[in-house]
Amino acid sequence: MRDPHPPASRRRRRRGTTGLVVVVAGFAAALVATAPPALAAPRPPADDTAATSPWMRPAGAPVTVIAHRGASSAAPENTLIAGEVARRGGAVWIENDVQPSRDDVPYVLHDTTVDRTTDGTGPIRSLTSSELDALDAGSWFAPAFAGTHVPTLEAQLADLRTRGGKLLLEVKGRHTYAQVRRIVELVREQGMTERVFVQSFEVPHLRYVHELAPELPLGLLRDTLDTDPLAVAEDLRLASYNPSDRALSTRPELVRDLHAAGVAVNVWTVDSPARWKALDALGVDGIITNRPTELGGWSSGQRS
Ligand code: G3P
Ligand code: CA
Repeated sequence: MRDPHPPASRRRRRRGTTGLVVVVAGFAAALVATAPPALAAPRPPADDTAATSPWMRPAGAPVTVIAHRGASSAAPENTLIAGEVARRGGAVWIENDVQPSRDDVPYVLHDTTVDRTTDGTGPIRSLTSSELDALDAGSWFAPAFAGTHVPTLEAQLADLRTRGGKLLLEVKGRHTYAQVRRIVELVREQGMTERVFVQSFEVPHLRYVHELAPELPLGLLRDTLDTDPLAVAEDLRLASYNPSDRALSTRPELVRDLHAAGVAVNVWTVDSPARWKALDALGVDGIITNRPTELGGWSSGQRS
């Protein structure tokens, strides 16, 4: 989650194998050289075996803050206002979930139904885009957000393109190949291929995305670790492996192993400074949090 996408950013880059490695290493060194000095800052452990990837943070660099469903502790999740709050709070990366409507329009919504986060009822896949557009997705969170809409993916991409930011896009739940293709089309139509990183729990969806848009970096979400995450990462050509904090805590040395293979690690969903500190010290690349502004401030404070 470190860098605008070089063309083959998902590919494994082993040390000393390409000129790009030299460029990336130089860029990383420049970043470190211009960063404020760390005092008692937790630092990723020195790792001479690590490969390099544009999605891995250079040693000493701050962890990437990823706003889970936007700034979802301060605004209604998965809405444009949640993205704006995250942006104004300093987050570059916003995580959203995408699912199709009954008429195959991709919308930004987490749950399988609209019940919890709107004034409507029913599964999102049973509602048409007209029905979804009529819902209020803000009042449940606070009266001040009344009138907030469930955004289409198209609207969210357009908002990010014009207002700034990058999207960690989770392809959520059941999707056909054609539905995944529509997501990819929208990313391209909105000129956002260099600002979107796709993740999913669903292996077939990642394969679809790779087939449709090999330029898009991929992350595999896991709430239980694979027996051999490195083999899975190689098979799926992952740019990142994205475990839950609980899953990673069962095998924290996996961060080093994945880094050695050039695979970044982004962890979800972590809201406590105690865990931020532990994960920062462990060397994870990104932390997905409901409290992006607080994580950004905390991370900055560690390095001031
Ligand atoms: O980004 C990771 C996280 O969003 C996965 O869990 O249920 O919040 O989509 P969930
Ligand atoms: Ca998600």
